[in-house]
Amino acid sequence: MNEWWRDAVVYEVYVRSFADADGDGTGDLAGLRSRLGHLADLGVDAVWTTPWYRSPMVDGGYDVEDHRAVDPLFGTDSDAVDLVAEAHRLGLRVIIDVVPNHTSDHHRWFRAALAAGPGSPERARYHFRPGRGEAPPTDWRSVFGGPAWTRVPDGEWYLHLFAPEQPDLNWDHPEVRAEFEDLLRFWFTRGVDGVRIDVAHGLLKDPRFPDLGSDDEEIVRPPDRSAHPHWDLDGVHDIYRAWRKVAGEFGPGRVFVAEAWVDRPDRLARYVRPDELHTAFNFEFLLCDWDAGALREVIDRTLEALTAVGAPATWVLSNHDVVRHVTRFAGESGLEPGRRRARAALLLMLALPGGAYLYQGEELGLEEVEDLPEAALADPTWERSGHTRRGRDGCRVPLPWSGTAPPFGFTAGDTPTWLPQPDHWRELTAEKQAADPGSMLGLYRAALAVRREHPALGDGTLAWLPARDGVLSFTREPGFGCLVNLSADPCELPEGTRVLLASAPLEDGRVPADVAVWLVRS
Ligand code: GLC
Repeated sequence: MNEWWRDAVVYEVYVRSFADADGDGTGDLAGLRSRLGHLADLGVDAVWTTPWYRSPMVDGGYDVEDHRAVDPLFGTDSDAVDLVAEAHRLGLRVIIDVVPNHTSDHHRWFRAALAAGPGSPERARYHFRPGRGEAPPTDWRSVFGGPAWTRVPDGEWYLHLFAPEQPDLNWDHPEVRAEFEDLLRFWFTRGVDGVRIDVAHGLLKDPRFPDLGSDDEEIVRPPDRSAHPHWDLDGVHDIYRAWRKVAGEFGPGRVFVAEAWVDRPDRLARYVRPDELHTAFNFEFLLCDWDAGALREVIDRTLEALTAVGAPATWVLSNHDVVRHVTRFAGESGLEPGRRRARAALLLMLALPGGAYLYQGEELGLEEVEDLPEAALADPTWERSGHTRRGRDGCRVPLPWSGTAPPFGFTAGDTPTWLPQPDHWRELTAEKQAADPGSMLGLYRAALAVRREHPALGDGTLAWLPARDGVLSFTREPGFGCLVNLSADPCELPEGTRVLLASAPLEDGRVPADVAVWLVRS
């Protein structure tokens, strides 16, 4: 029971876009609480909520001003406590989001740092440095575009790997470490079951502050991390060993999940060694193309690396930072093939050993909204990139719950939703799909119900069966099989099996292209 996290299915709620109770067009905690029944009916084990803390909302709340207070946009402090209690009543655990790499520039520490001036102890909690003439201290780039340094009026520069309004904390400072351990205790005391760690791979910086020497590498995920000046430094693991001890003070059921964009499964495995974090998102799986060979390789590499440290895998297809997988899988072929593949991908993911994260709206088959009007774009990426990268708003459009026209039950008020919803989502509302077992929502519910009941699913191991090119076929004991056909031609079922669940109807007893089936022995 206390190892619930080894195979939990966790549903990510992007609070701004889930449900709005107070009618201002932005989602909030009371809205989420009122819709928790949707998650209980879906059959997930836990909910992960994106930051609800006091924030100027430059990066949707990932710019935290006060980690111990709820932002008025999302509700009150007691709304958070009520939400946790109601979730627990429904049998759902709650994982909150903690943002340790940076604060908001409105945080009391950063204000004090600006006021105190160069060389002050207040500045030592962040990374303030002199420039090189008129140039910044290093050539590091912000993930959102532009330099990672901003100059303050007295001439010093401060580091921000994200927006200028998100100054990076100095994790070599003991007060920074103590503050975060304390706020973990603050939230564990309020009953939360786990913490998702934002940018877990970024906390430490090489104290020599070397140049990257290149501005063309992919920013969040450089090709070779072994000597990177600010991603995935070995010292971050000491921080997480200390955090693990803090979680342990509250009993064995409190857990962490790391957002660590590292390049290789063996680097990821370091975050989930027995005395560190419990789980870490497997982004290699998320980034993998819809290709049987590539997927099999990612699955094998992941399981091998994580099994070596005794940790479960954590599979994920979408989140609030990436293009929705219906659209990714669609490629040039259009959204309907994308949805067909998304259905198959779900059955693949939920059949793999370990746990999984779902992102709100994927159970409705929502696609990325790629034609949001420029005036509506709110992601800092849009401005920071000089209007060359639209950013992540397309996966953050408020959910369609019911009815036939926007706001589709998202808000009770007349204020427009903070991002506009496409009219054609009238076909994809939760209400409409709930009535149709063949819908995406119907498939999610059916798959999660089987997964809860079947003893072979969840934590454990898998064994591959021989299959032709383009087909993935594996068994899990006792008595379960999964076959995914990623090739263009139909394929036969393995002998002696019958279908328990299929992502689309079979044709003449064969599994058509882009279809997955769950099997039991006949
Ligand atoms: C993480 C979050 C993302 C945020 C960034 C900076 O990657 O998932 O939404 O912008 O950290 O906090």
